[in-house]
Amino acid sequence: MTAEYKVHGDVAVITLQNPPVNGLGHATRMGIAQGLEQASTDAAVKAVVITGAGKAFSGGADITEFDTPKAIAEPNLLSVIRMLEAMAKPVVAALHSVAMGGGLELALGCHYRIAAPGASIALPEVKLGLIPGAGGTQRLPRVLGVETALNMIVSGEPVKSELLAQVPGQKLFDKMAGSAESLMEEALALARSVADARPLPLVRNLKCSHPQGDAYFQFARNMVRGMAKNFPAPEKCVDAVEAATKKKFDDGMVYEREVFMALMLTPECRALRHLFMAERAATKIPDVPSDTPQREIKSVAVIGAGTMGGGISMNFLNAGIPVKILEMKQEALDRGIATIRKNYEAQVKKGKLKQEVLDKRMALLSTTLNYADLKDADLVIEAVFEEMGVKQKVFETLDATMKPGAILASNTSTLDVDKIAAFTKRPQDVVGMHFFSPANVMKLLEVVRGAKTGKDVLATVMTLAKKIKKTAVVSGVCDGFIGNRMIEQYSRQAGFLLDEGCTPQQVDKAIEKFGFAMGPFRMGDLAGNDIGWAIRKRRAVERPNMLYSRTADKLCEMGRFGQKTGAGWYDYKEGKRDAIPSDVVVKMIEEHRQSLGITPRKISDEEIVQRLVFALVNEGAHIVEDGIAARASDIDMVYITGYGFPIYRGGPMQYASQVGLFNVVQAMKRFQRNPRDDAKFWEPAPLLARLAAEGKSF
Ligand code: NAI
Repeated sequence: MTAEYKVHGDVAVITLQNPPVNGLGHATRMGIAQGLEQASTDAAVKAVVITGAGKAFSGGADITEFDTPKAIAEPNLLSVIRMLEAMAKPVVAALHSVAMGGGLELALGCHYRIAAPGASIALPEVKLGLIPGAGGTQRLPRVLGVETALNMIVSGEPVKSELLAQVPGQKLFDKMAGSAESLMEEALALARSVADARPLPLVRNLKCSHPQGDAYFQFARNMVRGMAKNFPAPEKCVDAVEAATKKKFDDGMVYEREVFMALMLTPECRALRHLFMAERAATKIPDVPSDTPQREIKSVAVIGAGTMGGGISMNFLNAGIPVKILEMKQEALDRGIATIRKNYEAQVKKGKLKQEVLDKRMALLSTTLNYADLKDADLVIEAVFEEMGVKQKVFETLDATMKPGAILASNTSTLDVDKIAAFTKRPQDVVGMHFFSPANVMKLLEVVRGAKTGKDVLATVMTLAKKIKKTAVVSGVCDGFIGNRMIEQYSRQAGFLLDEGCTPQQVDKAIEKFGFAMGPFRMGDLAGNDIGWAIRKRRAVERPNMLYSRTADKLCEMGRFGQKTGAGWYDYKEGKRDAIPSDVVVKMIEEHRQSLGITPRKISDEEIVQRLVFALVNEGAHIVEDGIAARASDIDMVYITGYGFPIYRGGPMQYASQVGLFNVVQAMKRFQRNPRDDAKFWEPAPLLARLAAEGKSF
C-alpha cells in the first residue's frame, strides 16, 4: 500500500507514500480509497486530512504506469474523487511542496484545502499534449475564476501557493499555513474546526461564469491558436474551460473526459509523452548504475577561446562554476572574453539578465596562456582547431600537467575520441563532450564514450550536464557520433534531390512544412557550406566509393559558403539573414544535371520529406544496432534538442514508428529502385527490417 492511514484523536490522516513525488499510481489510489472507507466506518473519526509524505503532496499521474492498463484500472482518479465528494465527514487536503496535475485535481475534490507557502501548484497536462482529465478544467475555474484558471491550464506552468492565495475571491485555499513545518498541525486544527459543519462544501457546487464570456473566450482562442501552432491541446483547454461556464457541472465533466480521451490518441500527444519518457531514459546508461561514485567538479578549464570555447565556458559560468580559459595568444583570449561579455550584455539589454548577475559571472572567469595554471581544474574541455595533430599536442600536454583524477574532455565533432585518449596515459579519464553551436544556447550535449572511458567519468559528466541544463545523450565512438552520422545521410538525399529535379527552395520548403526549424540548404548557409566540403574531401579519401551529389562542392568552388560570404544556396542582402532564391545557383544545378544526362522530373513534397526523414531513420536503426546509441529514443532526443526536428512528431524514430515501420520499409524499397539514388544505403537496416516484419515499432 502506498498510502498510510493513521488516526490522531478524532481526525484520520491519509498520507500518500509513493516516492519520489507521490504519483497517483494504482496502489496509491487504492490506498486512498481504503483510507476513506476506514475513516467512514470508524465512529471515533470526525474528519479526515489527506497529505503527502516527503517531497510533494502529489505530482499527479504515476509516470511508470503511463500507457499500461494500471493507469486506468479502478479505482481510477475520477472514482477516488467521487468517493471524496460522497464522504459524509469533511476531508481536508493539506498541500505542500508540489501539487500538480492529478494531485491538484484530487485536492479540488476535497471539501477544504490548506496550503503551505512555497508550494508549486499546476495543471501541467498540456505539456504532454493533453487537458486535465479528472475535473481540473471544471473545478479550477470555480475556485480561481475563469481567467486565472485558464492561464494556468493553457500554460501548464506552476504558480506558488502564496500568489494564488492573493487572487481576489479565490476559494482554492480555505487557509494558508504559516509554514511548511506547521502545516500538519494547522490542517488538523482546520479539520477539527469544521468537523461538525454541514452542509459539506463541494467545488462542484460553486458558480462558474465570466461577465464577458463570449468575447473573452474568443480572445483567448485567438491568442492560443497563434501560439500553439501544431499542438491541438491548448485550444482544447479553452474549449473545456468555456464548457465549465456553459454546461452543468456533470455535463462539463463528460465533455472534459471526451476531449481528454480524444487527445490521448493524437500523434502530438503520443510524441510529447514519448519525449517525456525519452528524456528520462537518456539519463540512464545501461551498465553504469545510478549509485556509481562520481568525481567532484568545482572548477573547469577550457582550451581555446573560439566559437565553441566561449559558448562552452558560459554554461559553467551560468551555473556558478569558475572557468579558466587557455589560448595560444593574448589577442585570442581578449577576443574570446569580449565575445562572452558581449553575449551577456545583449541579455542585459533585453532585460533577461541583471547587471549584477553579469558582473558575478564575469568574476568567475579567468584566463591564461600557461598550462601550469590549469593543473588543479577538475575538468578540462578542449575546443581547439579540428585537427588531430593539434589535438595530440594539447592532450599530451594535459596528460603531463593536469592533476591525477582530472577529467579530460574533447569537444571534437568528427575525430576519433579513442585516438585522442591514446595520446594520454590515462584513457579512463578521457571523454567526448560534444556541444552544439551556439554552445550557450543549444540544449544538446553528446557525451562520447571512448572504449576506455571510466564509468565514474561518465556518471560525473551526466550529472554535470544536468547542472548546466543540457540534455545529455551518450554516444559510442563512430564517425559523426549519433547526430552528424545521421545528418550526413539526410544531406546526401538533399543533394540527390537537386540532381533529380528539385530547387534548394523546394526541398527546404517541403521539410519546413513538415516541421523542421530549417531546411538542409538554409541550414548549410547558416552553418557554412565549407564545413561539409572539408568533410567530403576527407571522405573522398576514406570512402572513395561513396555516392554523393557534386552540387554542394560546385557551390563551394564558386566561393558561396553561406551567410558569412553573403551568398550560398541563396543570396543574402548585407547584414540580413533572409534567404533569397538565387538564379545563379539554379543555373549551376541545371547545368550539372545536364552534364549528368538527367532529365529533371517533378518531385512531390511527400517524396522529399520521406527521403530526408527515412534516411535519418535507417541510419538511426544502424546506430542502435551498432550499440552507438543505447536506445532509439536517445536518437529522438538528439534530433529534437540539437537538430530542430519538430517536437510534435517526437523525433525521427518515433515518427517512423507512428507511420508504421512496415510502411517505412516499403518506401525504402521504392527508393532502392530509383537509379539516381544509393540503392545500397536504402537496404533497410537489419533492426528496422526485423521490427517491421514482426509488426513492432522502435
Ligand atoms: P574556432 O576556430 O572558432 O576556435 C578554435 C580556437 O582554438 C581558436 O581561438 C584558436 O586560437 C584556439 N586554438 C587552436 N589551437 C590551440 C592550442 N594548441 N592551444 C590553445 N588554443 C588553441 O573553432 P570552433 O568552431 O570553436 O571549434 C573548436 C572545436 O569544436 C573543434 O574541435 C570543432 O570541431 C568543435 N565543434 C565545433 C562546432 C561548431 O559549430 N563550430 C560544433 C561542435 C564542435
